[in-house]
Amino acid sequence: MTHTIARSDPSQSAALKKRRALPHNFKIDPRAKTITNREFQLFQKLIFRVAGIWLTPSKTSLLVGRLSKRLRQLELDTFDEYYNIVCESKDELTCMLDAISTNETHFFRESMQFEFLEKRIVPQWMADASDGKRNRTVRVWSAGCSTGQEPYSLAMTLLHHLPPSAGWTIDIHATDLSTRVLDIAKAATWEFGKAGEIPDHFLRAFMLRGYGDQKGKMKARPEIRSLIHFSQLNLNDANYPVHGKFDLILCRNVLIYFNLDTRTQIVRRLLQHLTPQGYLFVGHSESLHAMTGELHSIIPTIYKQGAGEKGGKRAHATK
Ligand SMILES: C[S@@+](CC[C@H](N)C(=O)[O-])C[C@H]1O[C@@H](n2cnc3c(N)ncnc32)[C@H](O)[C@@H]1O
Repeated sequence: MTHTIARSDPSQSAALKKRRALPHNFKIDPRAKTITNREFQLFQKLIFRVAGIWLTPSKTSLLVGRLSKRLRQLELDTFDEYYNIVCESKDELTCMLDAISTNETHFFRESMQFEFLEKRIVPQWMADASDGKRNRTVRVWSAGCSTGQEPYSLAMTLLHHLPPSAGWTIDIHATDLSTRVLDIAKAATWEFGKAGEIPDHFLRAFMLRGYGDQKGKMKARPEIRSLIHFSQLNLNDANYPVHGKFDLILCRNVLIYFNLDTRTQIVRRLLQHLTPQGYLFVGHSESLHAMTGELHSIIPTIYKQGAGEKGGKRAHATK
């Protein structure tokens, strides 16, 4: 890796925007196996039990498309045979969940939230620290971090505003159900085409551009890599093995996969790990309106605990 990135390549950025504009559909492999209704229901119930994700019958081709490759690798003829293997092997269960999860993500996704972090939250933390109302350690949790773009965007933003030279310590926990995406996130190396998603000043300061066999890639600098700790965590589990409270929790574009009941339980568990003054960020299409009283929105997609001030905005309904 070289040491600096002068500017993001505008042509890369244009290509990226074009790609993002494409619908999020998927190709069905012509070699895909067929699944019976009974087999679909077996996987539907298993996936719900383990991951909390309820696949409606409209997701049949998605399931078939994603799992057929694995059936071929294992030289299996039916989904029934594969189901039995998944039930017996924890590793195969992980592999199956990896295959069915949707991992789309971007650097600085939902840019309005990063703006709110920079303009409202960070200045408040700085003022509170100066007034002795808080310490200079900031703890953030990226829950459902996918391939790392979310926690690295946080690391760049926070290190820029809250450097160790001013006495700040930044501690970012990043978790996901999928070990495959966590491995990518830990490697902290992405296609250089994604550079267009990162503001130029952050790109120059915190990313390295690859050369030689790393040409076309970029890697996060050690300064931001060292701020993030990755671990596997299933949001559908009854307890979360994370310690202490967080000033900010991001659970974005994950809740959308769960039904209302599961979503509510997950948010309640997340709130147990949020400081009383902490913020919760969710995705723009994730509705928490069923939790009015437990949460109130500051602006759409950004929440704090409690009912909020009388007359203030209640938990925001986005759908
Ligand atoms: C669409 S990505 C969103 C990534 C990122 N938060 C963002 O907004 O760009 C959803 C992520 O949630 C993860 N996920 C799905 N079910 C989960 C569960 N039960 N526990 C933890 N993570 C889960 C998936 O593996 C995937 O990486």
